[in-house]
Amino acid sequence: MTTTVTITGAGGQIGYALLFRTAAGDMLGPDEHVRLRLLEIPQGMAAAEGAALELQDAAFELLDDIEITDDATVGFDGADHALLVGARPRGPGMERGDLLAANGGIFGPQGAAIAASAAPGIRVTVVGNPANTNALIAAAAAEGVPTERFTALTRLDENRARGLLAQTLGVPVRSIHRLPIWGNHSATQFPDITHTTVDGRPVLDLLAAQVGDVRAWLEETFIPRVATRGAEIIRVRGSSSVASAASATIDHVRDWVHGTVDWTSAAVVSHGEYGVPEGLISSFPVRAIDGEWRIVEGLKPDAWAQTRIDASVAELVAERDAVRALGLV
Ligand code: NAD
Ligand code: LMR
Repeated sequence: MTTTVTITGAGGQIGYALLFRTAAGDMLGPDEHVRLRLLEIPQGMAAAEGAALELQDAAFELLDDIEITDDATVGFDGADHALLVGARPRGPGMERGDLLAANGGIFGPQGAAIAASAAPGIRVTVVGNPANTNALIAAAAAEGVPTERFTALTRLDENRARGLLAQTLGVPVRSIHRLPIWGNHSATQFPDITHTTVDGRPVLDLLAAQVGDVRAWLEETFIPRVATRGAEIIRVRGSSSVASAASATIDHVRDWVHGTVDWTSAAVVSHGEYGVPEGLISSFPVRAIDGEWRIVEGLKPDAWAQTRIDASVAELVAERDAVRALGLV
């Protein structure tokens, strides 16, 4: 069995990292052969071709075929997975919202090409920012493809939150479970520790001893640090996160395909859960069961948490309204 994976922006930084992890079997597993389709714009073709030469030189035994194209219909032909990475990255001082107009035009045509040529079971993961709204644009243009197949990446935010909490408590990251991200992949996101456990113990019981006033620590330290980590990376490295973003993308797709034992985070289409307007692509606590994301239901966010969720969702509504005004959804 060979799975076709199309990566847009394959000549870019995240694309470069993703190609090698995917070809190595980290995403789909050690027994799944992969056919890679690298979709670029003309200016990015040479970089994608160089990456393809290196993929050949790495002699990955699971890699059956590589095709490079700047034609979206060819690029998504028969695709089982589309990793939509190609976009304009945020530079110093730019907010993700600034990218709406620049990137909006990319994702409509790609959604239409997915509808026209991808495999019936296509699963789409949007990484390019603003990821949630780009996923919305692609889904709106993909007539006939269920919106449930369009997701945006917030796993990087969850991984960052787990990493920071592990560092704060001096425990390994593997000890930390149930730390979902709600809302937008942006500075308004809400990393929610209400149900987080550390080796099975509620984190709220452990944190007070470590940080004192937990609510103040969440508001002044933890949430802003997680939510602005992307900007911190840009400031320190001089360009946006790459290997960690690719790694989180691998985590997202692997879990979507192979399932989860516990909660994780993904931006998926809302059917009205937790007051999120129907049709928005918002991050929720999710499980992956039988190849589908399922929003964890029955949680009861307290008033403070619900205010945080509502604020991030309000930003998604504003982004949707902005792209609607541009005729993109
Ligand atoms: P990059 O500039 O290195 O690469 C982007 C690539 O996309 C370039 O090679 C460019 O030629 C290509 N491209 C542009 N338009 C395209 C199109 N229409 N079709 C196909 N390819 C196209 O950028 P990067 O560092 O790889 O980042 C890519 C995106 O991922 C950015 O939008 C960045 O903000 C975003 N990002 C998201 C997350 C997340 O967690 N969701 C994390 C990190 C970065
Ligand atoms: C990130 O979270 O690292 C990316 O979304 C890049 C950015 O613009 O913050």
